[in-house]
Amino acid sequence: MTVADDLQTVRDFVRYGLSRLTAAKVVFGHGTTTALDEAVFMVLESLHLPVDELEPWLDARLTRAERERLVDLFERRCTGREPAAYLLGRSYIRGIPFRSDARAIVPRSFIGELLAGDLFGADGVGLLPDAAGVRHVLDLCTGSGCLAILAALVYPEAAVDAVDLSTEALSLAQENVAEHGMEERVSLYQGDLFAPLPARRYDLIITNPPYVDAEAVATLPAEYRHEPMLAFAGGPDGLDIVRRILAEAPARLAPTGGLVCEIGTGREILEEEYPHLPFLWLDTEDSEGEVFWLSAKDLRVR
Ligand SMILES: C[S@@+](CC[C@H](N)C(=O)[O-])C[C@H]1O[C@@H](n2cnc3c(N)ncnc32)[C@H](O)[C@@H]1O
Repeated sequence: MTVADDLQTVRDFVRYGLSRLTAAKVVFGHGTTTALDEAVFMVLESLHLPVDELEPWLDARLTRAERERLVDLFERRCTGREPAAYLLGRSYIRGIPFRSDARAIVPRSFIGELLAGDLFGADGVGLLPDAAGVRHVLDLCTGSGCLAILAALVYPEAAVDAVDLSTEALSLAQENVAEHGMEERVSLYQGDLFAPLPARRYDLIITNPPYVDAEAVATLPAEYRHEPMLAFAGGPDGLDIVRRILAEAPARLAPTGGLVCEIGTGREILEEEYPHLPFLWLDTEDSEGEVFWLSAKDLRVR
C-alpha cells in the first residue's frame, strides 16, 4: 500500500496537500499566499480542471496515474522547494493563464491586478486621459511576457513592445505570446532597458523591474532560488534599475502618457530622493505603496 492508495478523491488530495505543505513549512508568494490555496491550485491544475472552481469536483475520484502524479508533485514541492507554478508549468493572473518555468520569474506582479481591474480600463475610468486612445505600450523587463500580454488584452488597439535582458526569459515570453495568439500585437526585444527599442514614444510604460535589495537577495527563501537572480537583484538598496527607468522614461513617453512601476519596499527612499515627483501610489489587494504612477506631465515630458 502506498499513500496514493489511501487517497481517492479531490477532497482527499486537497486535505493531504494542505497537511504536507503546512508541515513542511513551504514558502508561498508565487501566485498563492496560503497552504490551502496552493493545495487547491496544485490538485486542480494537475487534473486540468478550472483552478477557480473547486466545489463541483470535491468528490470526484482520481485514476491511479493521477493519484501517483499528485503524491509525487507534493513530494517535490515540499522537499525540492520548487515553486508550484514551475512544477505544473502554469500560472495565472486573475484567471489569465501563462506558461511558467525556470526561464523566467513566476508571474505575480501587482501590476497584473491593476491591469486586469478597471484602473486602466478601455472604458475610460482610468488614470490615462484617453484610455481608448492607447496605441503604443511598452513593458520593460517583461520576463514571461505576462504583463505585455495583459496590456494587449486590455488595450485592443495597442501595439505592445516588450523588452528583457534575458534571452531565456524571452524564449518563454515568445511561447506565451504565441499561446495567446498575440504575435501581431506584441513585439519582443532583447537588451538593456530602452536600448533595443525603435525610436518611438509610448502612451503607457509598465514595468516590474528587479527591485530586491542586496541584503534581501542574500536571504531569499529556497523557493525564490529556483527563479533567475537577474529578476530580483536591484543593487544595494534595490533601486538601481528604477532610478535608470526614471531617468530614461521621459524621453520615451508621449506627452499624454504615463509610467506604472512596481518597486517593492523602496517608497521612502524614492520619495526622499525625488521630492519634486508627485508619485501616486496604487494599492492592490495584496500590496500598499509598492506600485507608483507618474504621468508624462509629472515627469515634465514636452
Ligand atoms: C521582476 S522580473 C519581472 C518579469 C515580469 N514582468 C513579471 O512581472 O513577471 C524582472 C525582469 O527584468 C529583467 N531584467 C533585469 N535587468 C534588466 C535590464 N537591464 N534590462 C531589461 N530587462 C532586465 C529580468 O531578466 C527579469 O525577467
